[in-house]
Amino acid sequence: MSNGNKIKNKKVVFSDFLQKIDDIDFVKEIIDGLSSKQKYIPSKFFYDTRGSGLFDEITKLDEYYPTRTEKSILKTIASHIVLKIKDKDIVELGSGDGSKMQILINAVPRDFLENIQYFPVDYSMESIEKTSEKLSDDFPELKIHGVIADFLSQIDMIPRRSTRLFCFFGSTLGNLTTVMAWEFIKDIRASMQKNDEFLLGIDMVKEKKVMEKAYNDSRHITSAFNKNILNVSNEIAGTNFNTDNFEHLAFFNESESRIEMHLKAKKKLRISSIYLSNDITIEKGETIHTENSHKYTPEFINNLAEICNFKVLDVYTDKNKWFYVVHFAA
Ligand code: SAH
Ligand code: AVI
Repeated sequence: MSNGNKIKNKKVVFSDFLQKIDDIDFVKEIIDGLSSKQKYIPSKFFYDTRGSGLFDEITKLDEYYPTRTEKSILKTIASHIVLKIKDKDIVELGSGDGSKMQILINAVPRDFLENIQYFPVDYSMESIEKTSEKLSDDFPELKIHGVIADFLSQIDMIPRRSTRLFCFFGSTLGNLTTVMAWEFIKDIRASMQKNDEFLLGIDMVKEKKVMEKAYNDSRHITSAFNKNILNVSNEIAGTNFNTDNFEHLAFFNESESRIEMHLKAKKKLRISSIYLSNDITIEKGETIHTENSHKYTPEFINNLAEICNFKVLDVYTDKNKWFYVVHFAA
């Protein structure tokens, strides 16, 4: 359809806003990162089809505690939360496989389902299509509007029908730089109107060994996920990376309170692309920084509430206090 909306069946609609972003902007982001002193590739480029699949595998690993911990919290609180959301639009930012929303929707009494409209929002068209289909099969009464968009720049394009519950799970907030994370939360707050609410899932600082193991799994799935960003760079920015020339590196940076992932060159490399006037040299041992995953402390929640003018309705956690789900109101 001319406005970018595709109607699949009467309960599932899709909007693709990503097509409004010029491809050259993505090329520029990658080339700028590779041309910086500390080379980097923005972590949003992890999630092509293979990357999204590898992330799904990561979430099932024993070492990767965040997903199962957040899910256990959501299971415990679902029936309490749904009492407050049963006539709201639910907007899930970075919805991925939608399995966390499934936990919440599962607790909604069947009669109320048709009062809710679910808007999964993700960069990955494939994730949006799969998630929408899965939730539509499981909950045929639920209205679903899948939104393919960059939540950082296109949050205002998400349609509003009623009061809204924003959900941002998985500690995806932690993948943004501190400055971007604050700006993004302020954007969410600015999109919220009276009676809107916000559920935020964040991963907390804990024993270093536990955090580092989660990003250095014994099956090397995280390593494959990390290296795949080079294939995405080759695809988008025409670079000629060979993943075999790099080693996966993930460690806790104490002073920044974050896990950092890097790719370390095993030998001196020259990287070319039609978008580069001169080849990029990567020295042996030099790294490309691919991801930050910030880990939070309870003070962060109070700061968020104060600076962004949120009311904290509830703070939920697990028995180890490894992960928090915070329920804010506008
Ligand atoms: N919320 C899910 C998935 C987390 S993985 C969970 O908790 O398991 C992060 C998800 O955010 C991926 O599906 C990725 O495609 C999406 N994502 C990352 N940056 C994005 C951006 N800027 N805009 C839209 N989606 C983004
Ligand atoms: C999506 N995001 C919150 C994950 C994280 O833990 O930072 C991505 C990930 N990176 C490596 N493993 C998982």
